[in-house]
Amino acid sequence: MLLEGKRAVIYGAGGSIGGAVARAFAREGARVFLAGRTLAKLDAVAEQIRSTGGVAHTAQLDALDQKAVEEHADAVAAEAGRLDISFNLISHDYVQGTPMAEMQLDDYLSPVITAVRTTFLAWRAASRHMVRQGSGVILAFGGEGHPVRGYYLGPLQVTFHAIESMRRQLASELGAHGVRVVTLRTGGVPESIPEGAPGRDVIAAGIEEATMLGRAATLEDVGNVAAFVASDRARTMTAATVNVSGGALVD
Ligand SMILES: NC(=O)c1ccc[n+]([C@@H]2O[C@H](COP(=O)([O-])OP(=O)(O)OC[C@H]3O[C@@H](n4cnc5c(N)ncnc54)[C@H](OP(=O)(O)O)[C@@H]3O)[C@@H](O)[C@H]2O)c1
Repeated sequence: MLLEGKRAVIYGAGGSIGGAVARAFAREGARVFLAGRTLAKLDAVAEQIRSTGGVAHTAQLDALDQKAVEEHADAVAAEAGRLDISFNLISHDYVQGTPMAEMQLDDYLSPVITAVRTTFLAWRAASRHMVRQGSGVILAFGGEGHPVRGYYLGPLQVTFHAIESMRRQLASELGAHGVRVVTLRTGGVPESIPEGAPGRDVIAAGIEEATMLGRAATLEDVGNVAAFVASDRARTMTAATVNVSGGALVD
């Protein structure tokens, strides 16, 4: 197994991507610590993991709350003896479909502030333990892309670029301590669009059509790549983005 003996914290583990990553990490032998806003969703993912023999713990926390994030990371490190992997997968509540010229300032700024704040808090909390250990992997999801013509993305790309900037900086600061920082970059994961969401089928088809392979990543694909990147097999990868877009995004 790729992640035998590893301890992983996943913020937003009750969500689509977070849940998929948690299942993949656990399947590969990691002990997973699922953190997020709604305990029932975390418990559902933890139950799936336990039913297949994995080890999962849950904790309700607000990823915007500095004290809560620090105390949780400290508790995981104390209880598990170490913190090997940290992946922030909380949502940012974008307003999309509105031209920038017509957007409210708060609607534009709020997701960017949420993303930068929670990324900073999660990464700082993990970094302190990983530097002490001399090892660790910090992961981000999103990555830079281009504006989509004909659709108003709001601040989505601003957020992704901000996180990428943070990744580059943190990787350069932590490399000497044996800690890696990597982003998974996607053109969209159709399965993650909630059933019944307006325009689900059209959006999903658009994501598939934009790929070179004729297929976009499934949630399982995302989990598999994340598990590899988090594992020691990928020990030379840092300050990097891993493209899981099926060719929709060209490096
Ligand atoms: N899905 C994609 O194709 C895609 C593509 C590119 C980037 N991303 C990024 O990947 C991340 C995850 O996406 P997703 O599709 O998995 O989203 P999702 O299904 O909406 O899951 C997000 C999870 O984050 C939790 N959360 C939100 N705010 C929180 C807070 N302040 N504290 C703790 N937990 C919080 C939510 O809790 P509740 O359950 O209580 O709402 C939810 O469980 C997002 O940042 C998204 O921008 C996704």
